Amino acid sequence: MPFEPGDLVVLIDRRGGRHLLRLTEGKERIGKVGVVDTGSLIGQEDGTVIHIGSASLTALSPTVLDKVAAIHRKAQIILPRDAALIALHADVKAGDHVVEGGAGSGALSIVLLHLLRPGGRLVTYEVRADHAQVAQSNVERAGLCDNHEIHIGNIASDIAETDVDSTILDVPEPWEAVPACHEALAPGGRFVSYSPTIGQVEKTHEALKGYEMADIRTFEVLERELVVGKRGTRPSFEMLGHTGYITAARKLA
Ligand SMILES: C[S@@+](CC[C@H](N)C(=O)[O-])C[C@H]1O[C@@H](n2cnc3c(N)ncnc32)[C@H](O)[C@@H]1O
Repeated sequence: MPFEPGDLVVLIDRRGGRHLLRLTEGKERIGKVGVVDTGSLIGQEDGTVIHIGSASLTALSPTVLDKVAAIHRKAQIILPRDAALIALHADVKAGDHVVEGGAGSGALSIVLLHLLRPGGRLVTYEVRADHAQVAQSNVERAGLCDNHEIHIGNIASDIAETDVDSTILDVPEPWEAVPACHEALAPGGRFVSYSPTIGQVEKTHEALKGYEMADIRTFEVLERELVVGKRGTRPSFEMLGHTGYITAARKLA
């Protein structure tokens, strides 16, 4: 499909730098690359290469990874490697009703919203108004705000939703929110929590067992990029050794 006015486009430069922008008839300055006439992309096919002076840029429709990479960060975000497994364990799909604890910068919200559309709904609880505002503007910029509500509130005490398909937590004390998540979930509903430390995982397991949640498991995701070169291919030296642990469980009837 050719690009239309208002479409989000990611421009990838020669060094792999990615620049997310919305197409208008005007011009836009892109970092050190220069001024791009975004209007000239309207009507062009996805994957078009444009030239600014000696630089060339590839214009592509953005993936959800591009949208997450472009967010403004206020709090530590969940990286795509963890978001992928969180979404799989929560089994997030079109039409789902999901409750999330801890908006942060909205990175995980963007991934969840991408998966639950069309028809689904994400309700995020965030205790800090400044974080909620940043997350909301990042979700808006990603063009995914239609199915999203953010409430200023504590996930451990303020959930108003019932019969939800999954509850997903990225908060420092997830065990405190287990009773509220249990109450909100439909029978068979999925609980997923992300925590950086083992102590948090142990307390969360303890709380889940107390609420008769089943199939309780914890995972860690490790990701290592390969650098492919003419002289040889090797793992990147820049592997991020640790992010967090993902705990998943199901609500019993
Ligand atoms: C690490 S950040 C979440 C990052 C987010 N998942 C992302 O990918 O951008 C944790 C957030 O949880 C919020 N928070 C902490 N305790 C909370 C609670 N009990 N209920 C709701 N939000 C909470 C913090 O203010 C913070 O914004």
